Amino acid sequence: MKAMVRHSNDRAPSDVGVTTLAAGYYTDPAYFAREQEHIFRKHWLFAGRHDDVPPGSYVTRRLGDAQLLLVRDEAGVLRAFHNVCRHRGTLLCSAEHGPARGHLQCAYHAWTYRLDGALHRAPHMEKVSGFRTEDWPLLPVALQVWAGNVFLYLGEGTPPPLSEYLDTVDTRFAAWAMAELRTVARRTYQLRANWKLVISNYHECLHCPVAHPQLCKLSPYLSGDNEPMHPTWMGASMELLPGCATLSLSEPTAGAPRRAPLPGLDEQARRSVFYYALLPSMLLNPHPDYVVTFQLRPLAADRTEIECHWLMHPDEIARPGFDPSDAVEFWDLTNRQDWELSDLAQAGISSRGYRPGPYSNREELLAAFDRWVIERAGAL
Ligand code: FES
Ligand SMILES: [Fe+2]
Repeated sequence: MKAMVRHSNDRAPSDVGVTTLAAGYYTDPAYFAREQEHIFRKHWLFAGRHDDVPPGSYVTRRLGDAQLLLVRDEAGVLRAFHNVCRHRGTLLCSAEHGPARGHLQCAYHAWTYRLDGALHRAPHMEKVSGFRTEDWPLLPVALQVWAGNVFLYLGEGTPPPLSEYLDTVDTRFAAWAMAELRTVARRTYQLRANWKLVISNYHECLHCPVAHPQLCKLSPYLSGDNEPMHPTWMGASMELLPGCATLSLSEPTAGAPRRAPLPGLDEQARRSVFYYALLPSMLLNPHPDYVVTFQLRPLAADRTEIECHWLMHPDEIARPGFDPSDAVEFWDLTNRQDWELSDLAQAGISSRGYRPGPYSNREELLAAFDRWVIERAGAL
């Protein structure tokens, strides 16, 4: 792993001046639409893990105003399409996931598509002169996979290379060998909060002593080291206390941890937890012995769906009595504490009494993220 930039814990004091954003950035449907156009359709979007879609199956996803379909054929090829029938626009697959054995059929008039998106059958179209099935395939969506993480690109034209988007995050976390890890738990959360509040919450730990007593017992909340803002990502790390091997409800054990550290991690990585955001839709949270990914799916200015995956090493999963619940329940608890705060923030920001407030000198990444948004979607 590349050396991380280290900052002093005793950061220089800052002056009052940089404040939180005006309410409209979090509440205005028109600004949400601008973000969809200038941010969500200009970046690769995290769409889950490769093992979400076994061969011969599909999953559906809603990302912003797009209804999407990920399909893996029996040969193992994964593809993405807009989940919209080419006849009269009906949602093709309505379940969250299901089997895909050779074809997918629209429930309305039985147009049938092959798993490569080609239109196979279109009943009652035989007598339409000039109609050719090859002219009406499902609309494809660009898909790339990094280390088992599936990314989609919803913009027009040729997407930028995924490696350019990842911008060294892939090499920084190469030692975790995420492609080998398997999903051991998956949970979905519904928030009454703007997607940006989730990212801001993730990138400061000043709320940790109040909100996360269980986390503060394992990782000092002021131990965070922030990386400078990058064009597509933000990152930070925090240290584990001596005697703690990871973040889990069974820690501190001060003895044998429940799981071995992932092979290939150096000493620094075994003592740290990393908090990265691949903007705008992935939070990446590598621990010494597991990884949590968060997929942010903004549904409206004040609604966000988040799906979390817990990933562990196959050798651990194969052990008799394998039980990941200490890690799963730790983050499920921490998530619920965070989402409640995000919902409360949205409620306050939506109120007439809200005025932008001052950031502290330990909230510099939040101010940088606010600027990142405005540089792309514009100022209100
Ligand atoms: S809308 Fe799908 S077959 Fe008619
Ligand atoms: Fe938190």
